[in-house]
Amino acid sequence: MKLKRTHNCGELRSENIGETVTLNGWVGSCRDHGGVTFIDLYDRWGLTQIVFDPEYSQETHKIAHTLRGQYVVAVKGDVKPRPEGMANPNIETGEVDVYVSEFELLNSSKTPPFDILHAGSVHAETKLKYRYLDLRSPEMQQRLIFRARATHMIRNFFMDNEFVEIETPILGRATPEGARDYLVPSRVNQGKFYALPQSPQLYKQSLMVSGFDRYFQIARCFRDEDLRAERQPEFTQVDLEMSFVSSDDVITLLEKLFVKLMKEMKDIDIKIPMTSITYQDAMLKYGSDAPDLRFGFEITDITDVFQNTGFGVFKNAVKNGGCIRAINLKGYSKQLSRKDLDELTPFVKPMRGKGVAWIRMNEEGPQSPIIKFFSEAEAENLYKMMDAEAGDVIILLADTEKIVSQCLAAIRGRFAKKFDLIKENDFAFTWVVDFPLFEADDDGNPTPTHHPFTSPKPEDMHLLDGSKEDLLKIKSDAYDIVLNGSEIGGGSIRIHDHKVQEKIFRILGIDEEEAKEKFGFLLDALQYGAPPHGGVALGLDRVIMILLGTDAIRDVIAFPKTQKATCLMTDAPGTVDEEQLDELALEISLFDDEEDKDDD
Ligand code: AMO
Ligand code: AMP
Repeated sequence: MKLKRTHNCGELRSENIGETVTLNGWVGSCRDHGGVTFIDLYDRWGLTQIVFDPEYSQETHKIAHTLRGQYVVAVKGDVKPRPEGMANPNIETGEVDVYVSEFELLNSSKTPPFDILHAGSVHAETKLKYRYLDLRSPEMQQRLIFRARATHMIRNFFMDNEFVEIETPILGRATPEGARDYLVPSRVNQGKFYALPQSPQLYKQSLMVSGFDRYFQIARCFRDEDLRAERQPEFTQVDLEMSFVSSDDVITLLEKLFVKLMKEMKDIDIKIPMTSITYQDAMLKYGSDAPDLRFGFEITDITDVFQNTGFGVFKNAVKNGGCIRAINLKGYSKQLSRKDLDELTPFVKPMRGKGVAWIRMNEEGPQSPIIKFFSEAEAENLYKMMDAEAGDVIILLADTEKIVSQCLAAIRGRFAKKFDLIKENDFAFTWVVDFPLFEADDDGNPTPTHHPFTSPKPEDMHLLDGSKEDLLKIKSDAYDIVLNGSEIGGGSIRIHDHKVQEKIFRILGIDEEEAKEKFGFLLDALQYGAPPHGGVALGLDRVIMILLGTDAIRDVIAFPKTQKATCLMTDAPGTVDEEQLDELALEISLFDDEEDKDDD
């Protein structure tokens, strides 16, 4: 490189007029205007308009015609004001042009497979295959730079609060975080496998036993689970653990972090203490344990109204121990067509919803395919409970509690979108607390709602010795933090008494031998002066995604995986050599019959 950079492409202002500068960057676009050639030169800081004027330099002007998009160049030239009325207020360097006197081509470029600067409609797979080009777009660069700044701020916050940053192993043992493990075969210990951490949970608890009160880590976690828009097989947690704390201490600290984060990154003042809702209320009112509080449409349980109903669909739900719940789309009747309402039934089908009923509250009286089945008292009580008035539409669903919740939660979201109730830069945080310690699995057996190291609330501790029903009543000392309907973090106060921990393992059907084999070190550690402790982990990718207003987690991860857990750029996962397999004493035998597969 002959020409040494003096400024970046986002730096020049009217104050620089008259200076001779050298810029490096990529050619964004070339435009020929009657003999004068303009190029937009850009780098991660911005874009500057470069002018090749034959009157200025014959020699460089000739070169201008050979330039193509994404060529890498160095230009030396004079900063001049744009002609009267030609300033571009949309870019920071919009008041000036650089008139080229010297030029150096640093590298050419093949024609990119898509227009990097206008890639909006380009197929996602193409962008992932050429991720290095997609990442050259200002949009992706801004996202990753935002993420880096936020991460830096978070790290400083913890350093300022006396946390110690400690790295924990990637090659470890399986931890029961609820997902499938990614396994790594050991060469030295043939036939044995490391598991990539689903989270640093057990390490951070050990660190509390070691006396590292206040640990944090920006930790990579790995989970082999079905991917969705807000899930990746490897993702990043802001992981922390504290000793001698109650859940309030952890919650207060995290609220302080979010106040700072929202102020510094978004210039938004959020209110603390944040709202807090019990798991039970969240499920009832919003149909989800990650409620979106940016809009209303709360759910009301109306099962009681229909205890003795003659309407078959509702009667069946009540008889089968299900429920009937409803939402009032208050005042939206005029904005809803018959089609909008009829579309709800196919909409809930994938969630196993069998149907959706509606009642339109017209001035001249209610209109609905189902009210003819209601008694007068049922109709009246329903309208009272739903606060139904002319102009409203009531949406009703009958089924098991699980299906009703899931369907109505989705219907809430659907109408919030339809009626444009979700505003940009609206951030609704809430804590969700009082989770049950256990949930019943498909066979009715208790499984941990969070993970098996979560402490029961002290007042429910005695129920650990009770029946299955008692166990399902136990509340845990856990807390989730939810932002705009997405779970952005979760944590708990842990069990620090090894006897309680052993009891939990037993309840979960993990026998003594298995507990010893898998978690022996934790059970041992808890016997050597384990302090009371608790912590939390934030899903950093999700936090960044929401702050940036995008709905795909891969938008905030440099090299994300596809829904099928592949990397289209590197083609991971790949095959390996025979030799490598031999070293690991592994042989590959793929099941060709689905039935042979021991599927879970
Ligand atoms: P949990 O399993 O709830 O808790 O994870 C904490 C947070 O991590 C985020 N998260 C994910 N983000 C992207 N892709 C994924 N596949 C994914 N899975 C989880 C979520 C979630 O709230 N060890 C405990 C924490 C603790 O108890 O301290 C844990 O991992 O935002
Ligand atoms: P059907 O008996 O299937 O003709 O349904 C009668 C009415 O009840 C229709 O308006 C359906 O949309 C509605 N419906 C059916 N199943 C449900 C359900 N599970 N919850 C609420 N409404 C339902």
